[in-house]
Amino acid sequence: MALKIILLIILVILAFPIFWLSVAKLIRKLVRFPAPAFIGRLLDSNYRRRIQPPDKFIQRSGIKEDMRVLDLGCGSGAFTTFVARAVGEKGKVYAFDIQPEMLEQLERKLSRPENKNIKNIKLIEGNAYELPFDNGSLDLVYMVTVLQEIPDRNRALHEVKRVLKPGGILAVTELFPDPDYPWKSTTIKLGKEAGFALDKVSGNFFNYTVRFKKP
Ligand SMILES: C[S@@+](CC[C@H](N)C(=O)[O-])C[C@H]1O[C@@H](n2cnc3c(N)ncnc32)[C@H](O)[C@@H]1O
Repeated sequence: MALKIILLIILVILAFPIFWLSVAKLIRKLVRFPAPAFIGRLLDSNYRRRIQPPDKFIQRSGIKEDMRVLDLGCGSGAFTTFVARAVGEKGKVYAFDIQPEMLEQLERKLSRPENKNIKNIKLIEGNAYELPFDNGSLDLVYMVTVLQEIPDRNRALHEVKRVLKPGGILAVTELFPDPDYPWKSTTIKLGKEAGFALDKVSGNFFNYTVRFKKP
């Protein structure tokens, strides 16, 4: 009897990701909209950072000192301040989002005493389809749980390619159970279709980063 219950629990645990992915994907096929701004607090929480530690994310994405980096779809800025510190004073982080309400949350975060010394973040409101940067002007673009929210992903990725330097990095990070969570293979296919070269895949099923390079 005990064995049967254990087997049933294991089955439920294994079936949950498949069930959730199928239902979420079906709903998101019908309605596609950016993550609502009220989840900003949840996104920028210590609980979230426990499952997605910023230092690991920075290392997997290839973010280094002095880089000019675009945080595309920065939301409430869960990773922005960590990246700003990683690129250092000579580096720059452009925190870019389509929703002003998300950027307002990041602005409030930056005004807190512990972040007052960060001077290298610039907040920009806009759409991923039209990035306000010159051709080949950025070292790295990262997107954390953003790409699947953009209806025309190929168009957005071509725009990312335009603003990256040759050899520049695109790092796409995805997290389960985000309702838009895609398989690794889907993310890799999207990057390749947009003309990027696959550089490195790291992480596990639940939390992964796919790094591409602009040829
Ligand atoms: C799930 S949130 C993730 C936010 C942040 N990257 C994080 O991991 O906490 C997705 C963000 O992408 C933004 N977004 C969605 N579509 C966008 C677009 N076309 N251009 C710019 N930002 C977009 C949303 O406004 C939202 O803040």
